[in-house]
Amino acid sequence: MTSLRLAACAAIAVCLASAAGAQGTAVSSPDGRTVVSLAVTNGQLRWSVARDGTPVVTPSRLGFTFRNLPALGDGLRMVDSVRSDVDETFSLPLGEVARVRDRHHELRVKVAETNASEREFWVVVRVFDDGLGFRYELPDQPNLKDFEIMDELTEFSMAEDLKAWWIPANVPTPDRQEMLYSSGHISKLDLVQTPLTLVATSGLHVVIHEANLVDYAGMALQGRSESRTLKTSLARWKDGSAVKGRTPFVTPWRTLQLADRVEQLVPSVLGLKLNPPSRIADTRWIRPMKYNGIWWGMHVNTMTWSSGPLHGATTANTRKYIDFAAANGLGGTLVEGWNLGWDGNWMLTGNTFSFTQAYPDYDLPGLAAYAKEKKVSLIVHNETGTFVENYDRQLDSAYPLYQRLGVTAIKTGYVGDTTNPGGHAHQSQYMVRHHRRVIETAAAHGIGVVMHEPIKDTGERRTWPNMLSREGARGQEYNAWGGEGGNPPEHESILFFTRMLSGPLDFTPGIFNLLISRSGTGVPRTPTDARPRTTLAKQLALYVVLYSPVQMTADLIENYEGQPAFQFIRDVAVDWDTTRVLHGRIGDDVVVARKAKGRDEWFVGAITDEEARTIEVSLDFLPRGRAYVAEVYADGPGANWRDNPLPVSISRQPVTSATRLRIRMAAGGGQAIRISPAR
Ligand code: NOJ
Ligand code: CA
Repeated sequence: MTSLRLAACAAIAVCLASAAGAQGTAVSSPDGRTVVSLAVTNGQLRWSVARDGTPVVTPSRLGFTFRNLPALGDGLRMVDSVRSDVDETFSLPLGEVARVRDRHHELRVKVAETNASEREFWVVVRVFDDGLGFRYELPDQPNLKDFEIMDELTEFSMAEDLKAWWIPANVPTPDRQEMLYSSGHISKLDLVQTPLTLVATSGLHVVIHEANLVDYAGMALQGRSESRTLKTSLARWKDGSAVKGRTPFVTPWRTLQLADRVEQLVPSVLGLKLNPPSRIADTRWIRPMKYNGIWWGMHVNTMTWSSGPLHGATTANTRKYIDFAAANGLGGTLVEGWNLGWDGNWMLTGNTFSFTQAYPDYDLPGLAAYAKEKKVSLIVHNETGTFVENYDRQLDSAYPLYQRLGVTAIKTGYVGDTTNPGGHAHQSQYMVRHHRRVIETAAAHGIGVVMHEPIKDTGERRTWPNMLSREGARGQEYNAWGGEGGNPPEHESILFFTRMLSGPLDFTPGIFNLLISRSGTGVPRTPTDARPRTTLAKQLALYVVLYSPVQMTADLIENYEGQPAFQFIRDVAVDWDTTRVLHGRIGDDVVVARKAKGRDEWFVGAITDEEARTIEVSLDFLPRGRAYVAEVYADGPGANWRDNPLPVSISRQPVTSATRLRIRMAAGGGQAIRISPAR
């Protein structure tokens, strides 16, 4: 025993051996500020993190329990370790930034059981200047072949009772992530989703999330009353197990993003660095775009998905939307309700959805050809109602059909929950596998994917850049439904520092007719309080604030008629070289500047919550010594979200890198700015 332990220690760079058999090793970030330690004490393996010498995560458990196999977490010792350093830069076909530098130190530690079964695994840690990730690797071995993980023991024992911005997890409906955020200390948390944004009294921000979720269950975090420890809680199969696998096997990365100031949380690229490079060799067909669609009409009840007099997806209506897209430089038109299966209560009968057969009043091939001729892509909608098997069975007929028709993007949907006969937990391994199949099959047919009610984003888009965007948040649709469900004015300034840290969001901004039913657009079934609780200028700012390489111009096309402010939507970019947060406070306000990809053009988006605010920002991100013009779309006189959301003042002013801009926002308001070279 002793000699074995010494041999193991000799192989480990930093190794503390004591009489009790304790072992330890550590790895630091390239800037030396963050140190991740692994230690075995009394046969249990724990990890911890310090930043600038101050503990952030105190020693926290690692390991697994299995169905019908002994747990892997006790009687452990470190037997080997390997170190390596990486410094490389990769580009993203679409992104908040064009290039990402992956500079990290890696430590791999092999851990084995001291008992006769001698099962072993590696813990691999990568430490970057902006955070860290670690994962388990289970090699092929005689005593661990097929397994079912019942529980992952990984804990996050935080050194301080941090303040968390959280949404609940794993109850049937919130399983869809469409919840409003709350804040509170981690000692008061129950089961919450990731990304989980945590704030320390020092101002340090810590975001717990995961990366490269390929064949595993999504991770939620379980709090314990009056404890600073959050424990991994995995979504489950219907039979109760969490993960089914066979060695060799790797888990997703458990990630901790670290930022000294809230503004440094964005752009968040840690997860991308922990995903493998693109599997699509030529990505030129993957294009960012703005799109419109036959969509909002169903949510404000002027159209229906189902057949009948208000059917939205008719050939004539779709042509109008395509014409509008073509006339305004939008790249796509989404059509929902085109396919058979929407009649009756589709949330219960999703197993009858066809993904190839259209309603008789919808000419799919004719419209695809019409769109192509107008250089617009038809975005085909595939709502599954969580009847996933029914969708899976049709992938091999539907996607080749879409490809033949020249369709380059689809929108999938998974409305429903585990109480549906076909329903699987949205973050379960079953669904993770399903979404991978969708992304990969779509890639093989030249199709980009926008998922609604998705699995969480763990950075798949690095490997599969056709994974364009997703929902996985409470989007604009809630504002159409009225009642308490509408999004409060602070919502998007929380999303920016929470959900958005995982990846792009298909929020669908751009509602201009903000007082929906009061202006007579909605039929009587639309509740009178159904409306976005923002000003119009804030709807514009959301294009810059809430990143997505595909952004909807969500309103009915007639609501853009005669609206000078629509020019901003025509102009705004959706793909970026760089992103810089100029100001932010979670739940209060955000000001972000982004440079349009490949163009000498910047956009600034500013939003506030229910309070009117004036924020002064420097334009020092502009190249020095050059003259620019800022086109400013600001809240107009008397504007406020509550009873006067529509006034927008549009003005132009010369600016340079030396300019300081005073951004005045109304209650529930915002400001959208385009900065381009002065001519
Ligand atoms: C919910 C989605 O979020 C929404 O965009 C879609 O219109 C409906 N489901 C119907 O599929
Ligand atoms: Ca939804």
